[in-house]
Amino acid sequence: MRTETVTPANAGVQSSQSLDSDFRRNDDRWKRICALTDIPRLGARVVNTEGGDVAIFRNAADEVFALHDSCPHKGGPLSQGIVFGRHVSCPLHQWIVCLETGRAQEPDEGCTRSFAVKVEQGQVFLRM
Ligand code: FES
Repeated sequence: MRTETVTPANAGVQSSQSLDSDFRRNDDRWKRICALTDIPRLGARVVNTEGGDVAIFRNAADEVFALHDSCPHKGGPLSQGIVFGRHVSCPLHQWIVCLETGRAQEPDEGCTRSFAVKVEQGQVFLRM
C-alpha cells in the first residue's frame, strides 16, 4: 500500500503541461493523484486529505474506485482488504463493501463515503 498526501502544492507531482491545463479547464475540484499503474491491480493506494484518508482501489478490469479508508463496521482499513470484482473484503472482520457505493453487503449494514474518481490519459483523478 502506498500513501500520498494531496495538497494544492503537490497534487501535480507527476504533471505534464497538457494534463495540468486539462485539469484546470475541467474542474478545480479534480486532483490528480498518480498514474493508474501506480495503484497495484487488486489493491489500493491511500491519499491523505483534509477530510481523512481516501483509499483508491484498482480492480482486475482496471476500474478505479475511491472510498473513505474506514470500514462501516468498526473503522478497519479497507485499503488493506482483498479486492474482488467491484467489492472489497475488510481485513478485520471480512465485511464485504461495495466499491461503487461504499455500502456493506447484506446482512451487514452500514456505508462508508465514496468519492468520484476517474482515469484520463492513464492518470487517476480524485474529486475532492
Ligand atoms: S472493521 Fe471492517 S469488518 Fe469489522
